[in-house]
Amino acid sequence: MTSLHVSAPSFEHHRDPLGVGEPEPRLSWTVTTDLRDWVQGAYEIELGDGFTTGRVESAESVLVPWPGPALGSRERRGARVRVHGADGSASEWSDWSYVETGLLEPADWRASAAAPPLELLGPPDGPALLLRREFTLRGPVERARLYVTAHGLYEAELNGQVIGDDVLAPGWSSYGHRLRFRTHDVTALLQEGPNAIGATLADGWYRGRVGFREGRTGLYGDRTALIAQLEIAYADGGTETVVTDGSWRCAPGPVTAASLYDGEHHDARLEPAGWSRPGFDDAAWLPADALPHDAALLVAPTGPPVRRTETLAPAEVLTGPSGETILDFGQNIAGRLRIRVQGPAGHTVTLRHAEVLEDGALALRPLRNAAALDRYTLRGDADGEEWEPRFTTHGFRYAQLDGWPGDLDPGDVVAVVCHTDLRPIGDFDSSDPLLDRLHANVRWSMRGNYVDLPTDCPQRDERLGWTGDLQVFAPAAAFLYDCAGALSSWLADLAAEQVEYGTVPPYVPWVPLMFPPEPTAAWGDAAVLVPWTLYERTGDLGVLRTQYASMTAWVDQVTGLAGEDHLWDEGFQFGDWLDPAAPPDDPGRARTDHALVATAYHAWSARVVADTAALLGHDGDAARYGKLAEEVRAAFRREFVTPSGRLACDTQTAYALALRLDLLDGAGQRERAGRRLAELVAADGHRIGTGFVGTPLICDALASAGAYAGLYGLLLQRECPSWLYPVTMGATTIWERWDSLLPDGSVNPGEMTSFNHYALGAVADFLHRTVAGLAPGAPGYRELLVRPQPGGGLSRARATLDTPYGRAEAGWSRADGRLELRVVVPPNTTATVHLPEDGEEGGVEDGVEDGVEDGGEGGPIVVGSGEHVFSCAFRDPADDPAPPAPPARLP
Ligand code: BGC
Repeated sequence: MTSLHVSAPSFEHHRDPLGVGEPEPRLSWTVTTDLRDWVQGAYEIELGDGFTTGRVESAESVLVPWPGPALGSRERRGARVRVHGADGSASEWSDWSYVETGLLEPADWRASAAAPPLELLGPPDGPALLLRREFTLRGPVERARLYVTAHGLYEAELNGQVIGDDVLAPGWSSYGHRLRFRTHDVTALLQEGPNAIGATLADGWYRGRVGFREGRTGLYGDRTALIAQLEIAYADGGTETVVTDGSWRCAPGPVTAASLYDGEHHDARLEPAGWSRPGFDDAAWLPADALPHDAALLVAPTGPPVRRTETLAPAEVLTGPSGETILDFGQNIAGRLRIRVQGPAGHTVTLRHAEVLEDGALALRPLRNAAALDRYTLRGDADGEEWEPRFTTHGFRYAQLDGWPGDLDPGDVVAVVCHTDLRPIGDFDSSDPLLDRLHANVRWSMRGNYVDLPTDCPQRDERLGWTGDLQVFAPAAAFLYDCAGALSSWLADLAAEQVEYGTVPPYVPWVPLMFPPEPTAAWGDAAVLVPWTLYERTGDLGVLRTQYASMTAWVDQVTGLAGEDHLWDEGFQFGDWLDPAAPPDDPGRARTDHALVATAYHAWSARVVADTAALLGHDGDAARYGKLAEEVRAAFRREFVTPSGRLACDTQTAYALALRLDLLDGAGQRERAGRRLAELVAADGHRIGTGFVGTPLICDALASAGAYAGLYGLLLQRECPSWLYPVTMGATTIWERWDSLLPDGSVNPGEMTSFNHYALGAVADFLHRTVAGLAPGAPGYRELLVRPQPGGGLSRARATLDTPYGRAEAGWSRADGRLELRVVVPPNTTATVHLPEDGEEGGVEDGVEDGVEDGGEGGPIVVGSGEHVFSCAFRDPADDPAPPAPPARLP
């Protein structure tokens, strides 16, 4: 019995298609079938109002244009699809899925910004304030939507119930350009007769402290405000709208201080019982000020909100050197604690957070100027009370509890993991538990650093959207999570700020702190390379179209800075940031010349913009940027490469850039450079010698040179500096520095020492693409490129991915001189499979798939959808007994 099943369509990159901003949301679906080599021949889409496309002869199933009339604001529409195979097979109709637009036009907004009156406003990061109003519904409600956002952070309530499950809403965007609102279905929370709506409003990124050193407060304004519009449709066809305006009333509440960095203080005695229910007496509350706001800034989200995604029970209860109680959650996370506590009214429990312990006590120095301290003052309930802060998160694995009344039951405290609720799509595992832990650490660092925007770190007084960090990490991120929707919001901010500041700021949203926004290579190149990565991984040409002006503006700016000779050798650069040889207090002092890094990146971005222009049909631009890319490559060689292929900087990063970014000329130069890179890596004892720039490239560079032994020597190295060194030190996330924790267990003395920074975890992309062998062969994985390169003595590795076409997998295992490769190819796609070479010596002896020999050449085999198993002879040089150690070098 064959089966052919098509999923209900999804819309754009939305996980929750309620309140979307696209009037013509593109549709995608996936097919599951046991038919092999299945290719879609046609589809048919039906929209809820009877609209149907009829049969459309097309193989497209990803981001298919909206077939019906454009949606207006608040419009809800169902969609379903059925497909026909090129082989004559046909599916049933899929289930229905529904999309609903939010408010699409500024004119849809009637709400003003309800701001707490000045007399209630405390200092920045001071008390959170309560806002409320009541209203009466004259009959049963058929449908109700709350469109809501804030200047500041809000948690909204209706009739005593919290609305939705968002955390830190509305998140952080470049508020001066874009402020995201959320749409909630609140039908079930309303009742006929009296109702009450309320919100708690904290300062958050809008008015609270953001940024390192002293940071900045009041960045976007001095006054927080709620902007809410509750639209009610009665069962009898009538409507009612409740908006924020001067009729809302305001008072202080239980949150006496709330800071993203410093933490929250909640005094439960100050909670006005029933304040968000009807009938509460707010006569003593003060009226809110109704302030104007620019509704043109309000945009619907393109990705999911921050949510609580997991809770962790303490793994261990420890006692610190001063007798303090410390909980170890066994995992470094971004989030906060939830406690259940029973004690006398007015008693205060204090919760401190840290990522690591030093000498058995919380190591607080890495937090710099972030107190990460939450306090709860008890109401005194006889049967205990439960609390979790709402307007802060911390980066921590350990928590110290002070002032806990009575005996602590470890079950009374959990760590609540909070981050953008991205859909996990990819995974990796292998025969090496350390490598698997490294991969798990990368995932945890992605989780810890996607608290609404892609950040550098989640714990200290920073947590900024550093462009360079994301630029190097984006390929790994896009494999682990479906992050296209979330990242396109951040890219929209980047583009808006690029126009405002005349360059791509080094972090987005930009916060003026110690230096002006200056163009810097590898950081600013995020404008070009992040959209390209999203295109490559999702097939969404729309991202490139939307970002095109930003991409070209960046390359144009750098072209101007580089001048006639095309060498970008002036101005500030971060360079190969955190080169392991850089002193702890000078992370920019890398061994690789800044100008070499900057010029290499310029050539890369020019090439990508040329390719983008060609895809978008901008032929003139394609030719112009293509020529530019060639000129910059030539300039790079002229300045930094000898004719035989040696580089002016004899560093791992320089060779990694030249090889991986295709900056060399001819096989001779490439061969020489590859050999030199392998020599350098060996001379460094297979310890990593790269910083932020070289790290994501070096494994590919070694692989391209066929230097597999060197590559695996580096990848599986356990001594410092290396990827696995932190794992051997018990790391549960990727560290900012190769040696954030020194081998003696002390914290690196540098003032910038985070234990949760994803940048050096960019290597996960290599694990997926090359160790396991699952790479995109065409945008959106319409073709898979399966080219595993086993080595290092690993006996198996596997990557799985929910591609836009369905589940893909590449995994190999080997024993007794033979290797078996299993490949799962999603319907409507193909895979080009290269059986592995054992590189420096020997090669594939034979390759067999389903009884078909590949000719023994190791040449690629193209297969269609379904599961395929290949086998070939494979010998891993790492299995051979180690050669005798070379004589020790003379000093
Ligand atoms: C951040 C980085 C960032 C860097 C700029 C640091 O403070 O944590 O990860 O990219 O500054 O070089």
